[in-house]
Amino acid sequence: MGRFVPLVASLGLLLPFSTNANPLDKRAALDTCLSTAGVPVFASGSGDYTQALKPFNLRLTFKPAAYAVPQNIKQVQDAVACGATNGIQVTAKSGGHSYGSHGLGGEDGHLIVDMRNFKDVVVDQTAKTAIIGTGGRLGDVATALYKQGKQAIAHGTCPGVGVGGLTLHGGYGLISRSKGLTLDNIIEATVVLANSTVVTASATENPDLFWALRGAGAAFGIVTNFKFKTFTAPESNIVFNYYVSPGSAQALSQIINAMQDFTMKSQPPELNMRLFLSSFTTFSGVYYGSRSDFDKIMQPLLQKMGLGNPGGSVSTNGWLNTLTSFSNGALEQAKVYDTHETFFSKSLMPEYLNPKAVDALSQYWNNNARNNQRQWYLLFDAHGGANSAISSVAGDATSYAHRNATFKMQFYDRVASGNYDSSWFPFLNGWVKAISDASPGVNFGMYINYADSSLSKADAHSHYWLKNYDRLVQVKDLYDPKKTFEGPQLVGS
Ligand SMILES: Cc1cc2nc3c(=O)[nH]c(=O)nc-3n(C[C@H](O)[C@H](O)[C@H](O)COP(=O)(O)OP(=O)(O)OC[C@H]3O[C@@H](n4cnc5c(N)ncnc54)[C@H](O)[C@@H]3O)c2cc1C
Ligand SMILES: *[C@@H]1O[C@H](CO)[C@@H](O)[C@H](O)[C@H]1NC(C)=O
Ligand SMILES: *[C@@H]1O[C@H](CO)[C@@H](O)[C@H](O)[C@H]1NC(C)=O
Repeated sequence: MGRFVPLVASLGLLLPFSTNANPLDKRAALDTCLSTAGVPVFASGSGDYTQALKPFNLRLTFKPAAYAVPQNIKQVQDAVACGATNGIQVTAKSGGHSYGSHGLGGEDGHLIVDMRNFKDVVVDQTAKTAIIGTGGRLGDVATALYKQGKQAIAHGTCPGVGVGGLTLHGGYGLISRSKGLTLDNIIEATVVLANSTVVTASATENPDLFWALRGAGAAFGIVTNFKFKTFTAPESNIVFNYYVSPGSAQALSQIINAMQDFTMKSQPPELNMRLFLSSFTTFSGVYYGSRSDFDKIMQPLLQKMGLGNPGGSVSTNGWLNTLTSFSNGALEQAKVYDTHETFFSKSLMPEYLNPKAVDALSQYWNNNARNNQRQWYLLFDAHGGANSAISSVAGDATSYAHRNATFKMQFYDRVASGNYDSSWFPFLNGWVKAISDASPGVNFGMYINYADSSLSKADAHSHYWLKNYDRLVQVKDLYDPKKTFEGPQLVGS
């Protein structure tokens, strides 16, 4: 950061403001610093600025101190130095899809460093690796990887999600049971640290930082690109989507219990699946194998779930069509991203839901959810278990803390238009409480990529990172002792 102090001083301006300086003075000094360093910004009030401040979740909007849009690593370094020097917290933003709008800081007053210009995807087809900028969106990245020798990585389903946020905190998708989380496939990362130096993080360089980045990245630096291990995309994939309509709490419990038992003990890695419970309910997924093997696995499971021969579809698809089957729209993204929802969300990452917890969940659905007219859903992804690549990684190998979670459960409640009323929070909070109350002594994990804005700092830390939290705090002290990379729920906040 030293570079800037003499520069700013030579212009006759005041030296760095202390953190308790008047916020307006700090902002003015920040603007001057960014402009002196030649860091491109979206000026407050401009059309680009107004658009960029619209997060995916319109329920949570925040006003930054300044909005930087760097074009190269040097400008990322300069932006971080300007924030640190002026006592302003710095937040990287990639796709802006955080459920808590953490890409806008998760609170007012941050310097946002928007990574949209870091979106190159360069494949080494011989080595089967790819350098991918963090500002790319998943649909564009998948398309670019495929164009270069039909390569792929494991990633989430929504094509508008940014590589940066997804990868640094997990990254679960419909090939994760054989290929792991997105973060399991990082070979190295290029990182701008709080003191504005650039380092590589890998198993051999800065391994403690590399560990922390893979599960809690936002608090440790700004990653400009990742080097990923790639694989050749599988081309003959069985995509299934069954319509399911549980008629009672008991019927829903049977579905969940059978699915949980199967996922924990015998679900093969080639099979990826999810139960989407909503006003309409689907049981869907992908099998990477033959149709006859799929039928042999699926028929007995459907029987145990009490579903018999459900309606719906089973089709064979190439890789990009497999992705499109779950993407809710085209993979390639518009130049100006403008898709938003207004919602509240929670998550649970249970290793095991005991029969009473499943019953409580189903009763709550029957009594409180079925008659709810808002666009709510509860998604169960079959995440872990005996044969999942995610669970095969040791619990302390990365800071991602949910290796053994059988399900990744996402609770989501949204409105089609207008504001989310505060009287609606108890709907999802009550659902999670019903499950927790029936599970005495269990500290359920929660997934920061489905950030729950209602969690206190302490609850966020303990549920997002479980046993890995204490070590994360130690690494934070080494790499960001002044807490330049802060947010209401991040490590060390
Ligand atoms: C429609 C939708 C579908 C989703 N589907 C899935 C799914 O299938 N699987 C799954 O695992 N998740 C899924 N998610 C969750 C998603 O992984 C998270 O919301 C993720 O954090 C979004 O990343 P982003 O870069 O778009 O968000 P942002 O809001 O830009 O960033 C999220 C967090 O990461 C930090 N960050 C971003 N970029 C960087 C960087 N370059 N360096 C350092 N820190 C950075 C930000 O500061 C912030 O704290 C979905 C989300 C949405 C909205
Ligand atoms: C996951 O489960 C296995 C087997 O029960 C156990 O050895 C391992 O410690 C667990 N890992 C975590 C992170 O809890
Ligand atoms: C920047 O921080 C890293 C990590 O704490 C440290 O190793 C490095 O020496 C620092 N560089 C400078 C120039 O202070």
